[in-house]
Amino acid sequence: MAKLSTKSLAMLRLVLIFLVNAVSRVAAINHCSSHLFTVNDTSIQFTKEVVNQEYAVLGQFKSLHCCAKGYRSIEWFKNGKPYPWPGDVSTLILYPEALNQTIYTRHASSVDNGNYTCVVSNETIRLVQQMSLVVQANSPDAPLPTYRPKDQTVELGHTARLYCEAFVGNLGLPDVKSDISWHRVFEGQLENVYEGSQQVIRREDDQNVGAILELTNVNAKSYGRYLCRIEMGNSAHRLEMSAWLFGPPIKAEDSSSVFMQFLAIILACMTFIVIIMIYRYAPVWRQMNQKKNNQCRLDPADKYNIPTRP
Ligand SMILES: *[C@@H]1O[C@H](CO)[C@@H](O)[C@H](O)[C@H]1NC(C)=O
Ligand SMILES: *[C@@H]1O[C@H](CO)[C@@H](O)[C@H](O)[C@H]1NC(C)=O
Ligand SMILES: *[C@@H]1O[C@H](CO)[C@@H](O)[C@H](O)[C@H]1NC(C)=O
Ligand SMILES: *[C@@H]1O[C@H](CO)[C@@H](O)[C@H](O)[C@H]1NC(C)=O
Repeated sequence: MAKLSTKSLAMLRLVLIFLVNAVSRVAAINHCSSHLFTVNDTSIQFTKEVVNQEYAVLGQFKSLHCCAKGYRSIEWFKNGKPYPWPGDVSTLILYPEALNQTIYTRHASSVDNGNYTCVVSNETIRLVQQMSLVVQANSPDAPLPTYRPKDQTVELGHTARLYCEAFVGNLGLPDVKSDISWHRVFEGQLENVYEGSQQVIRREDDQNVGAILELTNVNAKSYGRYLCRIEMGNSAHRLEMSAWLFGPPIKAEDSSSVFMQFLAIILACMTFIVIIMIYRYAPVWRQMNQKKNNQCRLDPADKYNIPTRP
């Protein structure tokens, strides 16, 4: 009886391990098939933000991603060495089910530390991304930034997308959670953003936590600074990262043409005033000139006191 139960416990444990691995693998597959940019063209490109700084905990599942489309081939390198790697270079292997956009290991090891590069190409174009993987002995005490949001310039009416992500590791106790949220920074104060505009993404068994802030139909009020706050357990372990949303700059030639327009208006006004002046005072000037001329012509004697004939 006791033997049977240890046997079934072992079985249960195996099934659980299998399930956990399956879930991790499914999460790994899904990473490149969800939350993609909504760009409607088929040219070669990355389909979501590429995380360039990755962390793993020794002995735990880890995957790296290079989500792309429109490519003919995708290649991976570790510290310049092309895949497949010998075991002493890296234990990460390709995941063909994700169209080779993902490499993973079930048990991260210290040999996995290093710089990974993915090269996505067609016959004429090569796109390269580098990501650095750091394998840590333990979970971190505070969130480590993996993707810092980038400043963006977005035209009125278009959509802005900001992303931030951090590595929080295994939090251990199930009731210890990590929180992530986007805020608007307005006059030095944090304001909540519309809840529907953010999406939280947890990957690698919740060891990485990220959030997309998507602002559709950007208007003048949307421009400004946004802050992403990540908290682990309690707020003592907090990470804040921020980025600016800018409107398109006023082009130099636009501002010079505005200046030229201004100049033209001034010139037109001055011309108008001059014309009015001429029109208004021309008769007076003519009269004055005539008087002067008459004086000169008629009264030389007066002027020079020449005696005239009676
Ligand atoms: C995307 O492309 C498809 C096919 O070219 C087209 O039918 C669709 O209207 C496009 N959608 C947008 C939002 O441009
Ligand atoms: C490679 O991709 C670029 C950008 O999408 C495209 O302009 C070019 O035609 C592609 N080359 C080939 C040979 O398909
Ligand atoms: C994935 O990589 C394997 C091994 O390098 C290769 O045989 C296969 O064709 C690749 N698949 C895709 C979709 O690129
Ligand atoms: C990885 O890249 C960084 C910067 O790109 C460099 O400082 C570091 O030495 C590289 N590490 C290895 C193992 O090549």
